[in-house]
Amino acid sequence: MSVMPTAEQTSSTALDVAWARAQFPALAQTVNGQPAVFFDGPGGTQVPQQVIDAISDYLKRDNANTHGAYQTSRNTDRIVDEARAAMADFLNCDPDEIVFGANMTSLTFAMSRAIGRDLGPGDEIVLTLLDHDANFSPWKALEEKGVAIRAAKFNESDCTLDMADLASKINSRTRLVAVGYASNAVGTINDVGEVVRLARQAGALSYIDAVHYAPHGPIDVRAVDCDFLVCSTYKFFGPHMGVLYGKRARLNQFRPYKVRPNTDETPGSWEWGTLNHECIAGIKACVDYWATLGRRAQPAVTSRRAAILAAHEAIHQHERAMLQKMISGLLTIPGLKLYGITDPRRFDNRCATIVVRIEGHTPLELATKLGERGFFTWDGNYYALNVTEQLDVERLGGFLRIGLLHYNTMEEVERMLAALREIVRR
Ligand SMILES: Cc1ncc(COP(=O)(O)O)c(C=O)c1O
Repeated sequence: MSVMPTAEQTSSTALDVAWARAQFPALAQTVNGQPAVFFDGPGGTQVPQQVIDAISDYLKRDNANTHGAYQTSRNTDRIVDEARAAMADFLNCDPDEIVFGANMTSLTFAMSRAIGRDLGPGDEIVLTLLDHDANFSPWKALEEKGVAIRAAKFNESDCTLDMADLASKINSRTRLVAVGYASNAVGTINDVGEVVRLARQAGALSYIDAVHYAPHGPIDVRAVDCDFLVCSTYKFFGPHMGVLYGKRARLNQFRPYKVRPNTDETPGSWEWGTLNHECIAGIKACVDYWATLGRRAQPAVTSRRAAILAAHEAIHQHERAMLQKMISGLLTIPGLKLYGITDPRRFDNRCATIVVRIEGHTPLELATKLGERGFFTWDGNYYALNVTEQLDVERLGGFLRIGLLHYNTMEEVERMLAALREIVRR
């Protein structure tokens, strides 16, 4: 029997980059007469006009605290609910499994403190040396309580996680395994499904840092089956905030530190004090931007979740093409060393975040010279401290990081390569 393709399965069209760019007012800036090129996305992305409008409309019209018996407060309650539903679509969970917080780091410290309440000597936590420090130090802090920390290594040749080492560190004493979905330094995408499986097999919790992965690939917490997953909306075209997904049973299982009048019901019990309501209004607009982008690529999609997935599909093709051009161009620059996966056949295991060093030039010098020419890149360790220490580049200023996003263009990649060649020749 032949199966008719559903509307959600129709073939995708290319990403409408020109339309996407027109949504981001910041992209129109110039530096020293040159167009600004935003290759700084891994540190934070720009926001589309609809996010800016949602934030300012909230402040103009709905600004209030929550749970009051009057109009603006009720509007605020509705806006928070809508943002929760939007993030639930983004991550594929239920709205009451979404917790808002200041940023991923604060949410992770809150969670490590709560989970750590019940831990002590004899308990172990497995981390990785590939992770951003925000998924390392909050767990390492539990050493104070006698918890043993074990850190899985990565392979220096291609900066992939050493899965055998990780598996060997998980045992019956392991209580939690924390791992990044993708590295914000070298761009490696980790097999988080397998990490979750290993953790579960040992009876341990899994905690995924999806901050770097979120703008590059679709997240499905149901499919990954993790206990917790964190991301930051400012890395995927939203405002400066963090979001935590927790399985309902897990959010109910652990006891948050909180003030007494605060609700005991999840997810509110994990959100303390007054949240940034204007940014929460911006989060819904950010997810709606994703959906609009997806509907432009695949007009037949129906649900918001399907539209988000369509956006990811279109983004993936565009980012892949730019990644290929950027990496092959970089590798022709004399004295340049690229850390991470360089073989195009393995590009499914990396995202479009690239770090390099160039002989005779510090990363800061390169970033400064590029910055004067309008190219925004990062130098340093970007808090992936274990990565720069292990690769022995911490004492040398870390790496130059170039981050490609859907609003970047092939032409920007070509201009960046030309600028770098010119800087290195001098
Ligand atoms: C992979 C990764 N994890 C965690 C963080 C910390 O996120 P936040 O700034 O929301 O605390 C970052 C920030 O750069 C990151 O790239």
